[in-house]
Amino acid sequence: MADYNTILVEQRDAVTLVTLNRPHALNALNSEVLSELIAAFTAYDDDPSQRCLVLTGSEKAFAAGADIKEMQAQGFADMYSSNFFAGWEQVTATRKPWIAAVSGYALGGGCEVAMMADFIIAGDNAKFGQPEIKLGVTPGMGGSQRLASAIGKSKAMEMCLTGRMMDAAEAERAGLVARVVPASDLVEEALKTAAQIAAMPPLAAIAVKEMVNTAEELPLEQGIRFERRLFHGLFGTEDQKEGMAAFVEKRPGNWTGR
Ligand code: CAA
Repeated sequence: MADYNTILVEQRDAVTLVTLNRPHALNALNSEVLSELIAAFTAYDDDPSQRCLVLTGSEKAFAAGADIKEMQAQGFADMYSSNFFAGWEQVTATRKPWIAAVSGYALGGGCEVAMMADFIIAGDNAKFGQPEIKLGVTPGMGGSQRLASAIGKSKAMEMCLTGRMMDAAEAERAGLVARVVPASDLVEEALKTAAQIAAMPPLAAIAVKEMVNTAEELPLEQGIRFERRLFHGLFGTEDQKEGMAAFVEKRPGNWTGR
């Protein structure tokens, strides 16, 4: 497995666990973190033995944002010419499922990365926020769009305009996170959920991701047509034959990913 400076990567059977590891900076997301995450997520997507991924941080901080010290001296021309943050699109292009397991601070870019995941499981100590306005900027990694679609305009607007933090209970009520668990059990709970997903037929999992994500992009009628076509397509797979035979024969399915 590749050696990284800012993240730790391990495989637990079919699940890849990626841990942000810049404790001195509360896992602030600098360019090195981004390139290492792109490498780790690409390796995960390309490895047929891996079927779900969990991204987590430390107990104190999932990530306290993009690295302010790295951005401080940049001007418009630097940001525009390097298309700063565009690399995150390579992370969101991951085709296989992944979960963000959030403990502690998920602020600014930290909240935005968590929202890039297919879903979030939060520790009961999690704190979400988009405090960029206090720095004279705004969310820049998709936060205004993903937060608005996750929790609605009014609450997203309030979060981004005041920069306040939202605790785990409020985040669950608002629909930002799928589930809240005790912080001490967070990683184990997320790995358990990931193992459940990893045991599913992998092509159907990719298809689910594609169709749920499409709900945000297409009008309803086209989205439903897209869903139906993908559903039809799965009838060309071995796993559909196996899954339905296994149900009828009252036994677990044995997936090939074909
Ligand atoms: N960038 C760079 N360094 C950061 C950082 C960040 N986003 N967040 C924390 N750090 C560093 C601190 O500078 C500090 O380093 P030193 O020890 O060298 O001084 C170290 O991490 C520990 O942080 P604190 O001493 O501040 O810890 P705390 O427990 O007192 O406070 C906190 C925790 C409330 C999360 C506070 O660190 C904080 O407010 N961080 C910044 C949050 C923020 O504004 N995030 C948005 C960043 S901009 C962005 O993300 C843009 C975007 O759209 C993607």
